[in-house]
Amino acid sequence: MRLDGIEDRAALITGGGSSVGRVVAEQFRAAGARVHIADVNPEFISETLAQIPGISGTVCDIGDAVQIAALFAGARESLGDIDFLINCVGIAGPHATIEETSSAEWNRSIQVNLTGSFELMRRVIPGMKARRYGAIVNFSTASTKTGLPSRSPYVASKAGLEALTYTAARELGPFGVRCNAIRPGAINNERLNEIVVRNAAQRNISPADAEKDLLRFVSMRTKIEPHELATMVMYLCADTGAHITGQFIEVSGNLEWEG
Ligand SMILES: NC(=O)c1ccc[n+]([C@@H]2O[C@H](COP(=O)([O-])OP(=O)(O)OC[C@H]3O[C@@H](n4cnc5c(N)ncnc54)[C@H](O)[C@@H]3O)[C@@H](O)[C@H]2O)c1
Repeated sequence: MRLDGIEDRAALITGGGSSVGRVVAEQFRAAGARVHIADVNPEFISETLAQIPGISGTVCDIGDAVQIAALFAGARESLGDIDFLINCVGIAGPHATIEETSSAEWNRSIQVNLTGSFELMRRVIPGMKARRYGAIVNFSTASTKTGLPSRSPYVASKAGLEALTYTAARELGPFGVRCNAIRPGAINNERLNEIVVRNAAQRNISPADAEKDLLRFVSMRTKIEPHELATMVMYLCADTGAHITGQFIEVSGNLEWEG
């Protein structure tokens, strides 16, 4: 898809080494943007840099503020001023009830899913405000509207990210800078496949039946392809999204509830 307002702009994309972040990087590069990716997995970074010519990247744990400072410096060196920040990283965290969740597990989810986005936002915002241009897209989850038993650090961190998104939209709107969140449904990727296979084994049913069961909570009974999410990111960053801010946009087939 070719949208005005992407070509020659600079995009920093976290989690850009695989899945959705990787496809966002591909789409932005194909549309003529300058792209820098961050990922905790060095192999993902090397593979992605080899496969998408012309982009740069940094190995970085988004849960570590010191590494984020180095990431930001590297991205600035490669890209100059950053026009778009796409906070795609999100870890699933533990599968445990609240009382079974350790403080360390809680803190790690908050650190990666919420604090990491904050640390990058606070670094890109001054430049965006000064230039009166920029867009930030944060990745939340449709589960913030339903809750999700045994996933409290994940849902709480994403709900915090939505609160940060909305607050940023209010702070930045007067400067012409936008901030939105995307709520994906069940993304068709490795993470979902692992959940389906685990669930099937636990219940002694086939993976196909486990997947059908999972999708009965989605009105359209569908998984979401990474490229659908990447296209929404692009729409929000491009001129098409010039007056869209403070929104939580669900790309999920309508998640009604989650089992
Ligand atoms: N998978 C789903 O069904 C689903 C549903 C709702 C929301 N989401 C959210 O959508 C976003 C994308 O999901 P996904 O399934 O593509 O993600 P994913 O789990 O496939 O991970 C994407 C990338 O992030 C990297 N990463 C993981 N931890 C990191 C860290 N600490 N620092 C830097 N990089 C790190 C991984 O190496 C990977 O390359 C996430 O924010 C996720 O929480 C996913």
